[in-house]
This record gives sequence, structure tokens and C-alpha cells, in this order.
Amino acid sequence: MTDLLDLPAADGATSDPTWWRQAAVYQIYPRSFADSDGDGIGNLRGITSRVDYLAALGIDAVWLSPFYPSALADGGYDVADYRDVDPKIGTLDDFDEMVAALHGAGIHVVVDIVPNHTSNLHAWFAEALAAPKGSPARDRYLFRDGLGEHGELPPADWTSTFGGPAWEPVGDGQWYFHHFAVEQPDLNWDNPEVREDFLRTLRFWSDRGVDGFRIDVAHMLTKDLPAPGEPLPSQAELEALPRDGQHPLFDRDDVHDVYVGWREVFDSYDPPRTAVAEAWVGSAERRARYASRDGLGQAFNFDLLEADFDAAQFRRIITANLALAAASGSSTTWVFSNHDVVRHASRYGLPPRGDDRRKGGTDWLLAGGPESDLDREAGLAKARAATLLELALPGSSYLYQGEELGLHEVADIPDGERQDPTFFRNRGVEIGRDGCRVPLPWTADGPSLGFGDGPSHLPQPAWFAEHAAAVQDGVEGSTLTLYRSALDLRRKLQTAEELEWLETGSPDVLAFRRPNGWTSVTNFGSDAVPLPDGEVLLTSGPLADGALPGGTTAWLQS
Ligand code: NOJ
Repeated sequence: MTDLLDLPAADGATSDPTWWRQAAVYQIYPRSFADSDGDGIGNLRGITSRVDYLAALGIDAVWLSPFYPSALADGGYDVADYRDVDPKIGTLDDFDEMVAALHGAGIHVVVDIVPNHTSNLHAWFAEALAAPKGSPARDRYLFRDGLGEHGELPPADWTSTFGGPAWEPVGDGQWYFHHFAVEQPDLNWDNPEVREDFLRTLRFWSDRGVDGFRIDVAHMLTKDLPAPGEPLPSQAELEALPRDGQHPLFDRDDVHDVYVGWREVFDSYDPPRTAVAEAWVGSAERRARYASRDGLGQAFNFDLLEADFDAAQFRRIITANLALAAASGSSTTWVFSNHDVVRHASRYGLPPRGDDRRKGGTDWLLAGGPESDLDREAGLAKARAATLLELALPGSSYLYQGEELGLHEVADIPDGERQDPTFFRNRGVEIGRDGCRVPLPWTADGPSLGFGDGPSHLPQPAWFAEHAAAVQDGVEGSTLTLYRSALDLRRKLQTAEELEWLETGSPDVLAFRRPNGWTSVTNFGSDAVPLPDGEVLLTSGPLADGALPGGTTAWLQS
């Protein structure tokens, strides 16, 4: 194992304590990024082999989705051991080498922490199953007696996020609660051992040089369930309750006590480790609590991801989130794509379908039929325009692997090859999230388009070849070239976390200027509009005789 003392400590990549405030963070889904050993599954050595690519892209940090030992009941978000690497993905030595290589290239490293639930293969859960009712081992999870004479009925009719019941019997009259898949039992955050163990996990990765953490479903950890033996509320009763701090399952005020303890760990390092909360809560105001300086420090803002490609919606969301960030002392975050939602090039290329579309869910994709309805060209043009706008905004931008290649969602994965529990538990309603997790195309040929030497764990469609990194490398107008140019310019132009809206004379055109004159103009409409005065630095698509066409963004220096 690498001697920890040999690892670069706070080097150029990590010494500025405010690096995260306006960082461009690139999300890597490790199993689908690059496979160095040809087993079809991406791995840590694969990431290390692509550090030059990441450096040339111009990002400030990578965020790695879980790479821990996992049976992949939920793409790695079912963690069997929080302080190790899945053998299919590598070793702790590989991890150390990867961190050293990324730091050497000036790239920070953020890892995913999944504290709401473990895998059912975690040693604690095995202990809980072997231990009797009422034992300390069961107290680390949420066990309750079933109803009926022998506990044969669930303690409540709650449904899980991936569909199906949320209570699972263990054969002795007791049942355990799982918000997500049945293989993801929820932890009991009232249990001091659970709290202590996560502090240990945070120190473990911080000691290995990790710069920050992304906290999975940060709003779900603490719960307020009636004591064992007392009746639980029904699903209908739960749904009727407001999610404003006192709900028994979501966004409880007492969850922030957990993060105060985490902040003490983060701040015991120099520079302090950072964190960003994934918190799908009722309002932007509630979300800001997760970004508090005493807690996690930053929270994902998914508002643009949920919005239509619409000037008024974008302006309202940007204004509100910048104000909230200023009030909380944090910086805001922007994101259009991640491993849970349909890629934004496809979302923008399909007809709007109301609320189904807003959450990036896949039910509309299934129902609409991607090949029949998807306008790939228009979708990608709008996605490029949206991203260029995003990268000019104050705050951090979170980019998802493959969006820099202009990838669309892969909709036509055969049923037999799907992996997402959403598909299995909700069959026929949701096709799940595999379509945004298909391994990246690096070259136009090869058994998995340069991803590895063998076939990839999810099938790549033929059209992926056109999007390969090698095909786009150095090509003027390619999406990869656009991302590289934008990230390079963003770094040079980055300035105070403020913007001023400019009058555009059209409800379909948004323009804003940063304090140093860096100006971004987006035409959300369909007719070309004149550009404001200034030197054109970059555009997301070709101009039309000097005018800005619909679905296009331009950056100017004014
Ligand atoms: C949010 C993660 O982003 C998602 O992929 C996962 O399925 C759930 N949390 C459960 O961990």
C-alpha cells in the first residue's frame, strides 16, 4: 500500500480553502468512465489513465460516484464497506495513485458518501439479521414488528422510492425499512455507533487526500418513528404532511445536528474538506440550510435541471438562487445532467410533457418513444446553449461525464441488459437510469469504443461512435471543443460571485454581465436577434450574419 506520507498533501490543487466556490466539477460514474483491464467495468486505473483528458478539459475537480464494495443493487449506492474499494474497480493503492495523479494535474477529488442506508451485504446488516429482536445490532437499522398474529403483515403500507413496499420481512415477525431498494436498509441515525462510524469514514478518506464529499440524500438521515409497538402512520398520512422540518422521514431539522459534527471533522483539516448536499427538499429556502457554514457548506440546486428551456424560468431560478447563496454565505451550484436523470441534450430535444419531464424521470421517454420524437440536433444545440450560460454564472457548475461529448440518453437498452432497480421495481412505468450511465465512447472503433478492451457492461449504441472523444478532439465546432474552450475561458475570466441582468428588449433573450465585463447572452426563442456591443469570445453554435440564432448562447467581453 502507498505510504500515506508520500501522498501529495495540500498541493497546488488543494491549498486554496475557497476553491470549491466557483469550481467546475466533473462527475465520474466510475463503472462507466474507462476500463483499464477489459472486464467491461470502468475502474480507478482507467480514471488515472485519463487524467490528461480531464486536465485538458479544464475542470477544477472530479466527483466520483461510489466505487466502494457493492453488489450493485443500486449502481453502487448500496455500499457494503465504506472504507474500501470494490475489487472490480480497483484497490486502495489504485485509489491513492489516482488521487496523486489528479492532484498532480491540479484537479481536486470529491467522493460520494451514502449515509442514509447501507447495502444489505454490509457486515452490520448481516449481524442484524443474525441477532434477535431488540438487540443492539438491530438498533443500527430501523426494525419494527409486523402486524397480524405472527407479524406476517407489514408494519405500514409505505412505498419505496424505487416502487414496491418500503418494509421488508426478515422471517421472524420483524420487518426493516428501506427508502430505496430492498437491498438498501435505512440506518438508524439515533444510534451513536452509526454516527461515530461515519465520522471515521470521513476521516479515512480525508486522510487519503480527498478534498471534499458529495452527500447522498442528505435530507433523509434522521427519522422520527413512533417507538416500537406504537402504530406507524399510513402512506396517505405521510403524504399529507408538509415537508418543512417536522416530517417524520424527510428534511427534519435535527438532521443538521449530524452535519455540525461533520463540519468539525472537515475543519480539522487544512484546507478544510468541503461537502455538497444532495437534498431534494420542498423549497430553495429549506435547501439553503444544508449549505450553512456550520454544516455541509454547499447544496445542490437542481432548479435549472427541472426547468424547461425557457428564458423566464431561467431568470427567476438564477435570481432566486444567487440571493439565497448570498444570504447563506455559500455559493450556489448549477447542474443539468447527472447519473439520475435523462441527459439534457435529450430532454431539450423532446416535446415538453409537463411534470414528468421536469424531474428528468424516464417515464415520458418510454411513453414518447425517443427515436420517434427526439430532435437530436435541436436538443444538443439547446443543451450547448444552456451549458454555456451555466458556465458564465457565479457559483459552481457540476458537469456529468459524457455531456462534453454531446451524448444523448440511450433509450433502447434491451430489457435483459438493464441494471437500474427502478426498472425492475417499476417495470413498464419507468425504464430507469441506465440510459445516462452507458460507458463513454473514447474512440470510433474497438470492442467498446475505447472504453476498454472488451464489451462494456451496458451496451453502447452504434451512434455513440460519432460522439467519441477522439472524433471530436481538435475539431472546430465539436461539443468537446466547445467545453474545452468554455472551461478555459471561464478560468481566465472568473470573477466576483455577482451578476447584473442586461435589458435585451425581448422576453426570449437573457443577458447578464459579471463585474469584469464578461457577458453571456442566450436566445431562448426561435428568431435570430442582434448581439449587444462587445467582443465575441465564444458561441455555442454558429452566428447568423452576426446575429444570435434561437437556441444559442454567446459570450462577449463588454
Ligand atoms: C441519490 C443517488 O444520486 C441515486 O443514484 C441513488 O439511487 C439514491 N440516492 C439512493 O442512494
